[in-house]
Amino acid sequence: MRGRDFRHVVRGSKPVSRSLPAFLLLLSASCALAEPYVQWRQVGYAIPEPLAGLKGDATRGRRLVIDRSKGNCLACHRLPIPEEEFHGTVGPSLYGIASRLTEGQIRLRVVDEKRLNPATIMPGYYRDPKHFHRVAEAWRGRTILSPQEVEDVVAYLMTLKEGEK
Ligand code: HEC
Repeated sequence: MRGRDFRHVVRGSKPVSRSLPAFLLLLSASCALAEPYVQWRQVGYAIPEPLAGLKGDATRGRRLVIDRSKGNCLACHRLPIPEEEFHGTVGPSLYGIASRLTEGQIRLRVVDEKRLNPATIMPGYYRDPKHFHRVAEAWRGRTILSPQEVEDVVAYLMTLKEGEK
C-alpha cells in the first residue's frame, strides 16, 4: 500500500525528482561543514604544521579573504585587492605581512588571534567549537573556516611580501 502510494507520488511529481540532484548537493555541502574538528599544536607564537597536513592554494585564499560570508578580512584589514573598494582600518594593514611574520605565525593569527591577544576583536577562524557555547545558532558546533580554507588563506597571505606603496 505504502509502496504504491510512493511510486504514485514520484511518477506524478516531476519537479520533485528533478530537484533531487540539487538536494543531494546541498546535503553533501552541509555534511562537509560538520567535519570533525582537527586539533592543532601551538609552538611559541606559531602553529608550525599545516592544519590536517593540507596544502593551501593562494588563488582560493584570495577569494576567501574577500568573501563576506567566509574570511571577510577586508572589513578590518587593508590588502592589495584593488578591485574591492572598501578596506577596513580597524586591524593593521596586511600589505607585506609575509615579510614580517613566518607562515606558522600567520597561521596562529588566522586560527585563533585570541591566543595572542585575549581582548582582540578579530574572530578566531578555527577555534574548537566545543569550548564555545554562546554563539549564534548558525555557528554552533562549527568553525568559521574549514582546515582547507585556513590553509588557502595562509597560502595567500604568504604571497604578500611587498609593503604598501
Ligand atoms: C573584526 C575585525 C577583523 C577581522 C574580520 C579580521 N581581523 Fe585580522 N586583526 C584584527 C585586529 C584588530 C588585529 C590586530 C591584533 C589584535 O587585535 O590582536 C588583527 C591582526 C591580524 C594579523 C596580524 C597582523 C600583524 O601585523 O601582526 C593577521 C595576519 C590577520 N589579522 C589576518 C586576518 C585575516 C587573514 C582575516 C580574514 C580571514 C582577518 N584578519 C580578519 C581585526 C580583524
